[in-house]
Formats: sequence, C-alpha cells, structure tokens
Amino acid sequence: GAIRKYTFNVVTKQMTRLCSTKQIVTVNGKFPGPTIYANEDDTILVNVVNNVKYNVSIHWHGIRQLRTGWADGPAYITQCPIKPGHSYMYNFTVTGQRGTLWWHAHVLWLRATVHGAIVILPKPGLPYPFPKPHREEVIVLGEWWKSDTENVINEALKSGLAPNVSDAHVINGHPGLVPNCPSQGSLSCNFKLAVESGKTYMLRLVNAAMNEELFFKIAGHRFTIVEVDAVYVKPFTTDTILIAPGQTTTALVSAARPSGKYLIAAAPFQDSAVVAVDNRTATATVHYSGTLSATPTKTTSPPAQNATSVANSFVNSLRSLNSVTYPAKVPIKIDHDLLFTVGLGINRCHSCKAGNLSRVVAAINNITFKMPKTALLQAHYFNLTGIYTTDFPAKPHHVFDFTGKPPSNLATMKATKLYKLPYNSTVQVVLQDTGNVAPENHPIHLHGFNFFVVGIGSGNYNSKKDSKKFNLVDPVERNTVGVPSGGWAAIRFRADNPGVWFMHCHLEVHTTWGLKMAFLVENGKGPNQSILPPPSDLPKC
Ligand code: C2O
Repeated sequence: GAIRKYTFNVVTKQMTRLCSTKQIVTVNGKFPGPTIYANEDDTILVNVVNNVKYNVSIHWHGIRQLRTGWADGPAYITQCPIKPGHSYMYNFTVTGQRGTLWWHAHVLWLRATVHGAIVILPKPGLPYPFPKPHREEVIVLGEWWKSDTENVINEALKSGLAPNVSDAHVINGHPGLVPNCPSQGSLSCNFKLAVESGKTYMLRLVNAAMNEELFFKIAGHRFTIVEVDAVYVKPFTTDTILIAPGQTTTALVSAARPSGKYLIAAAPFQDSAVVAVDNRTATATVHYSGTLSATPTKTTSPPAQNATSVANSFVNSLRSLNSVTYPAKVPIKIDHDLLFTVGLGINRCHSCKAGNLSRVVAAINNITFKMPKTALLQAHYFNLTGIYTTDFPAKPHHVFDFTGKPPSNLATMKATKLYKLPYNSTVQVVLQDTGNVAPENHPIHLHGFNFFVVGIGSGNYNSKKDSKKFNLVDPVERNTVGVPSGGWAAIRFRADNPGVWFMHCHLEVHTTWGLKMAFLVENGKGPNQSILPPPSDLPKC
C-alpha cells in the first residue's frame, strides 16, 4: 500500500456557536477535525503535535492496529499521553477494513471537540460492492456545550452527580436553525448537502457525540445502508438511521426529487426515562441545484425520543455482507465464555453516616476500572509488576436482575483488572445491562478487534434459550454495539491481535465513571504473532 502522511497540530481555537464564543481544543483549528483518507492496505503516519495545556492522545477508532497497539491511542492503556509541547508519530497500517471510521482524543473529555472521520477506500482497482455514488460526503454528528467541557466533567466528579447535558447537537460542527439566535441560524454556516436531481450520494456518518445515541433523517428521502464500522452489510433501505456514540454508518441516498430544499435532522434516542438528554434537534439541508429558496420546502421530524421500535428495526436489519470476498468468520467453538454485567452502581461513602449513598459509579461485573498511572501496554511489554492484575471475573459477582428490585449489593470494587486471552483463542462476551440505577443503552466499544453481534435481546440473558437463536451465519460485524436498555447483546471475536485492548462504554460519562476494562492478548508462538517493538518516540508517563 501507499504511505499517507498527516500532521495534527492540537491547538486551541475560538469558536462561536449558539450565540456565544469560547475557546475549544481542535486539530489544525478545525471542528470537526480533518478527514483522513487512505486505501485499504495503506500505512498512515500522523504526527500529533501537542500545543495545548492538556495531555493529549488520539485514538483511531475501529482501526484494528494489528500488532501495533502502540498506535492505538487510549491514554494509560496503550500509551502515556503526549505532554504539552511534545509530539508523537502514530504509525499504523489499515488491514482488512474498508469504509468509514473516525479518530478522536482519548484522554480527559477532549474528544468533545477533538475528532474527525477516517475514510478507507477499497484497494486500488477494487470497486464498491454497490453502485458507485456520484459524490461522497462525510457527516460528523456531535454535541456542543456552551461551557468548557473539562469544567463540566470536573464539576460532576466533585459533586458525584451526573454532568450537564450538552446545549445542542451539531451536524458537521453546526447546530442548524437556532431559535432566538438568528445569526447562528443563518443558513450560510449550517451544513448544506448540495445535490443534483437523479444522482446518488454516499453519506459517511460518524456519531462523535459524547453521550447521546442519535436518530438521523432527511425529509422526503430514504437511505440504503451499505456499511457500518468499516464492514460492508447486506444493503437495506430505511428512512431513519440509528447511530450510537462511537459508531459509523455509510448510507446511499438518491436525489430522487426534481428540486427543492429538504431538512436533515439529528435528534436523540432516549431509551430511559431516568436519563436526561439534550432535547435540541440539529438540522442541516439537502439543497437541489437550481433551487433558490432559502427555506426548506420539506421539513422532517425525527422519531419520538422513546421510539424503541424504530431503533430495534434498524438494529435488526443489520447483516454482514458475507460474500466470497468478505467472508464472515464467526467463531463457532468458544474458548472463553464470558458474562459481563454493564451498568451504573452506587458506591457507599464509608466516612459518611451508615446507609448514606455517596456517588454514582459505573462498572463491569462490579469492577469499577481504576486508571493506572503508567500505560498498561508498556507494563505488559516490559514486565513491570504491580500495575495491574489479570483476574478480571468471567462472570458477575452478584446476582442481578434488571426487571426486579435493584440488587442488594450495588457496591463496586475499584481495581485495574485485565482479562487474559491466549493468542488466537475465541471469545464470547454476553453484555448484560443491569439497570441497577438507570437502565439505558450502553454502546460498548472494543479496541483492536471487530466482533460479530450474534444475538441481542431484552430482559435477562438466558444462556440455554437465547444461545439457540444466535445468528452464526451473517451477523453484523462491528466495533461498537448498543447493549439495549434493560437487555443484552452477545458478541464473538477471535483474539488474533496481541496487546492490551480497551473495552468500554462509549458514553463518555460512563467511561469516566469506570465502565471499562481491558483484555490482555498474549503473543502467539508463530511468526508475525507478537506485538511489534514500541516506537522510539513513545511518550513516557
Ligand atoms: Cu472511540 Cu476507546 O474509543
């Protein structure tokens, strides 16, 4: 493959949204940040230069990083962060993936504004497995806070309560029509998708929002979904896309109208009555050439915030393409059969009066992950002791039942525990939402792998009944799965990538609260089965 070189200057930049101005951390002064382009098999070199006062690290979300965990990016998991004034060269090759992915900061809450798309085109000369679109557009969905996001999370951590929700959703950096703020609503700065009647367009969607799962719609148009998380799917049509934080979706849209202006809308899917979401719908427009009118001829309203059936029907339509070129290699025999409860818990305050609940925490199998002070991958590679243990539990410690009363023991243990996997072993993880405090959808992301979503359901997972209905033929393959509110999702993967791989909820506040863990995949004995040596400019803690 070719070599693609990029320079990412991390700099602060003043931006005005919702009629107020603030400084944000950006890459190259852009929000969203620059798009990375590559063909499958290319090597990507990104020199990240930290010119801000915060520690920085960048994660290439969904890139498998085969044997190159040093370039994965999560701070204190695979690398120490890049200190202010320092730089680090991320060096990785794109193998076995094609489609849309994205990159984002993976330290503090910087990813609120430090994010952008990665477009992986097929190998040169190889066509898409669907008709070639007239043009491709990257559409990054996000959130905007009027206040400083580092303050938002710091205040929440101090109080032990949930942080404030964002002030607006944004489409390619813009909230769209904002009542009471006409200058912001001016159509010149909102995102416009210019189309010609009769042509087909490819939309590469990224949900870079911090905490909200989104519905995406275009008035008067339907989508054909062709790929998610850089894996082709069997094409299906829909008028609504559901996309969780961390996920990417590529859709074809044909400009089937003669002319006009049509509203694009992105709004939250709120699957829990308890959890607050930002109510603002972000808007943009599809603009047919030759149309002069400034106001949309057709508007759209996204599904109701609690439209679970719309969400389910989208999720259940996803099937991997499973062709000769792209076979679905679903592991059939399972070596490690894991059950992980994911959800929020409450840790009691020991210095307070008995029975006093202290703060919200989040956990997997009642373990609230404690961030180490040095990167786990370094600790593993250089055999440093005392940084982590490898006794992450394969099953939950406590009985759980999302439907019944909250379990008596919501307390979690704070520890840096990893789950060890021999090279090439096969793994099934059933992710069960416990709904201890508030059942809600958890978009669980695994670094270093794609996994197959073999089953998804509501209520408590029943290993005898539910495993019989698993799809082992054409399950969707992805890197982030939405575990339904009060339900479960079963994923399978092969541990063919040695290193330390983070798994966490992609709702940023849940990650902060501890809904995270890591797998340690051992080296294999054969050639090309061990992690490569670290680059010489790897940051130090
Ligand atoms: Cu997109 Cu660990 O993150």
